[in-house]
Amino acid sequence: MSPFASSISKVFYGTFIHSVSIKEIEYVPNGLLFVNTHGRIAKIVKNVPKDQVRGVLDGVADSKVVLLNDDQFVIPGFVDSHIHAPQYAYCGNGHDIPLLDWLDTLTFPHEAKFKDASYARRVYTKAVARSLRNGTTSACWFATIHLDATKELVKVIEEQGQRAYVGKVNMNQNSPDILRETTQSSVADTRAFIKFVNAINDAQSFDTKPLVTPIITPRFAISCTSDLLTELGKLAAEFDIPVQSHLCENLNEIEFAKSLFPNSTDYTSVYADHGLLTHRSIMAHCVHMTDEELQLMKDRKAGISHCASSNFNIKSGLANVRKMIDMDLKVGLGTDVAGGFSSSILDAFRTARTCSIARSPDNSLLVPELFYLATVGGARVMELDDIIGNFVVGKEFDAILVNTAAKHSPLDIFEHDTIHTKFEKYLFVGDDRNNEKVYVQGKEVRLPDF
Ligand code: GUN
Ligand code: FE
Repeated sequence: MSPFASSISKVFYGTFIHSVSIKEIEYVPNGLLFVNTHGRIAKIVKNVPKDQVRGVLDGVADSKVVLLNDDQFVIPGFVDSHIHAPQYAYCGNGHDIPLLDWLDTLTFPHEAKFKDASYARRVYTKAVARSLRNGTTSACWFATIHLDATKELVKVIEEQGQRAYVGKVNMNQNSPDILRETTQSSVADTRAFIKFVNAINDAQSFDTKPLVTPIITPRFAISCTSDLLTELGKLAAEFDIPVQSHLCENLNEIEFAKSLFPNSTDYTSVYADHGLLTHRSIMAHCVHMTDEELQLMKDRKAGISHCASSNFNIKSGLANVRKMIDMDLKVGLGTDVAGGFSSSILDAFRTARTCSIARSPDNSLLVPELFYLATVGGARVMELDDIIGNFVVGKEFDAILVNTAAKHSPLDIFEHDTIHTKFEKYLFVGDDRNNEKVYVQGKEVRLPDF
């Protein structure tokens, strides 16, 4: 066998669909996509007639070839740039209250239960499995303040094989006693958590980046004192790791945050003033941003996670994603479970579209833009677009094999359907039942049969 042939672990033959830019989805019919033993895309050959496949295989054994039928196609895995793992336990409940009351009455009492690491494992096992089942190959997870429970989340993610950023949440003010740390314990536990993840990664060998990365996670400015935010900014710099938080989600939240930090020009500046707004920062929501705040995000190269479903459910408002795109800000989609009622990025895709139409019907987001946000956009927000997001030789193969004719599929296929219409039906009508297989770094993820 040639060195090339032996370096290949799998070859897909069929239709690939991915974003090549925010304006353009590329359909590659009759394509051959070679994945190597390191999980990377080794080669792509387009437009190969079926009877010529063998000639293009370059000696790769037939047993490594996955032949797709006309109802199937491969797309990049989805990126969920904002999701709360503990909140999955009450996903779909309690939406009729705005943010600050929702946190006090529903979220904080529930998150307090994660003091019990075995309870955390039970919830996290389902949260991660459901996220993967929905085709999310990369996710930015918030855990809770609890060190042990957050370690459990990392272990569950490692076991199930998702690419993820995982954050131990920091909170030392404006929260109930059971969910309030001291500055010192918050910083010490965050440092211990980072070291825990780094030790797991050091014990393995990676060709590129490890699958799981710790992320600094101040819940939001309201939950953290200035001295805690300062220490967290220092940790982000010391370990060169990303940062995630919430920003300008709800009008009462903004007023409260501004009242707590009168020395900062605006809410976005609170993070900037504490070393927490960098090219590695991911800010969820950004619904009510001034022009100056959006410009500051752009100047710092910080990313935005647009969570339309949550913004509708807990009545936060309609984010101006068109403006963010026009400014070339980094934007991805987030499910924001349990503010959002679904951990599916297909739901985030649809709701982002509805949100953009409600904001501006004549200038709403189009399918290519939304699909880009769900894949490449999310990868940019996570600063992983050099290794995931679309199908480019050298990138890692994180993908979903979609079967539009799957058993119990929620969509129906007719004689007139083409691969284009099948793909659109999947985006608008499909669900996890159409996600036949999910791959992370070239490896098939074992999907639970719910
Ligand atoms: N702001 C601070 N905490 C949260 C949270 O858990 N969910 C949402 N949607 N916003 C927040
Ligand atoms: Fe959130």
